[in-house]
Amino acid sequence: MGLKILVIGSGGREHAVSYSLKRSPNVEEVYCAPGNPGMSRDGIHIVDLAQSNHAALISFAQSNNVDWVFVGPEVPLIEGIVDDFEAAGIPAFGPSKAAAQIEGSKDFAKRLMVRHDIPTAAYQTFDQEEAAQAYVRNQGVPIVIKADGLAAGKGVTVALTLEEAMKALDDIFIENRFGQAGARVVIEEFLEGQEFSLMSFVRGRDVWPMPIAQDHKRAFDGDLGPNTGGMGAYSPVPQIPSSVVQEALETIVKPTAVAMAEEGTPFTGVLYAGLIATEDGPKTIEFNARFGDPETQVVLPRLTSDFAAGITAILNGSEPEFTWNHEGATLGVVLASEGYPDHVIKGAIIPDIPDGEGLHTYYAGVANSHVGMVSSSGRVLLVEATRPTLQEAQDSVYGLLDELPTEGLFYRHDIGAKALN
Ligand code: AMP
Ligand code: GLY
Repeated sequence: MGLKILVIGSGGREHAVSYSLKRSPNVEEVYCAPGNPGMSRDGIHIVDLAQSNHAALISFAQSNNVDWVFVGPEVPLIEGIVDDFEAAGIPAFGPSKAAAQIEGSKDFAKRLMVRHDIPTAAYQTFDQEEAAQAYVRNQGVPIVIKADGLAAGKGVTVALTLEEAMKALDDIFIENRFGQAGARVVIEEFLEGQEFSLMSFVRGRDVWPMPIAQDHKRAFDGDLGPNTGGMGAYSPVPQIPSSVVQEALETIVKPTAVAMAEEGTPFTGVLYAGLIATEDGPKTIEFNARFGDPETQVVLPRLTSDFAAGITAILNGSEPEFTWNHEGATLGVVLASEGYPDHVIKGAIIPDIPDGEGLHTYYAGVANSHVGMVSSSGRVLLVEATRPTLQEAQDSVYGLLDELPTEGLFYRHDIGAKALN
């Protein structure tokens, strides 16, 4: 009998994880809770249970003989869902509550990096606005201001002027815009260079890196507009030399895994390093305790080995095998709701998108209605193409998107431009 796997989450990342598991030869059933209706198109079994309801998820897993659980998003990880599944005797892939702090608290991540000489931007943490303002005046601009804790990628201001910096501090301390997350602020040196995402499978001190990807965080073409969860991505990233990736592995990712183990919070799961290739080598912007979204949708299609077997091996303590397609390139563009990220307008009709050879759609913020699938949150879906070259992948995705009726939705037109221009 094949494996039964439960994936937790509902976005494009979880669609890509579930789709990849589903295509593993020994997998019988993939459940996704709460999932989304777009996933059903790929034979993924949607389970109507909230990701915050650990007890209900555990009892579902028990009564359906789930072999193991894959946790997609950060919130349940930080709330200790892996600890809860393991206490119930169900293996779950992802970090413990203690290890997920590497994403849950920027201050935790920063202190760890400083203690272990892991390259990152210089910084200070404040919980009083006056002291933060004085520090900003002293350092000058550009400067980066981050609400501590989770703010869904929106708690960061790259301030180019003193006014912007002061407004960001007011937002955090006076307006309390990020709620609990903003009780403390991390103020960072501005780093210059191209960003890339290096994700690795990790078990304690062991690290199995994936190919790198590049996300596009700003809402609009030309990296303009507000920060979002990510508007599109591609992999590989040819303008980042492999020597830089190697250096990042040796100076950032591996030492971080060792540091977490040495400090009594060993990390198992996907460790996401958000990096900038500066003139002084790669430096860390952030760690996430999970797969990136939309990076997953452009990295997993390049996996040529059996995904479920790899995760099973990590959970069993044996040696996993992960092999990657180093020939082609994958690119994905997010279709988002009008108004995302600030004032999302829901209810747009989702166009019918045909699959093709090397062409796939991963759904996120969609819901069923009497007129068919409609948008139900900011990021709606991502169209992915895998082709011999990045240019061809880009042409395929835009060739498809540009022909679709996308009223009430929008997308960036320049995903991949930094690699192609
Ligand atoms: P984060 O949520 O920490 O990933 O930050 C969101 C975005 O802000 C990053 O993807 C970068 O584009 C930018 N950013 C964050 N920290 C820095 C930094 N120290 N220097 C320059 N840009 C940064
Ligand atoms: N794409 C960035 C993230 O997943 O945090």
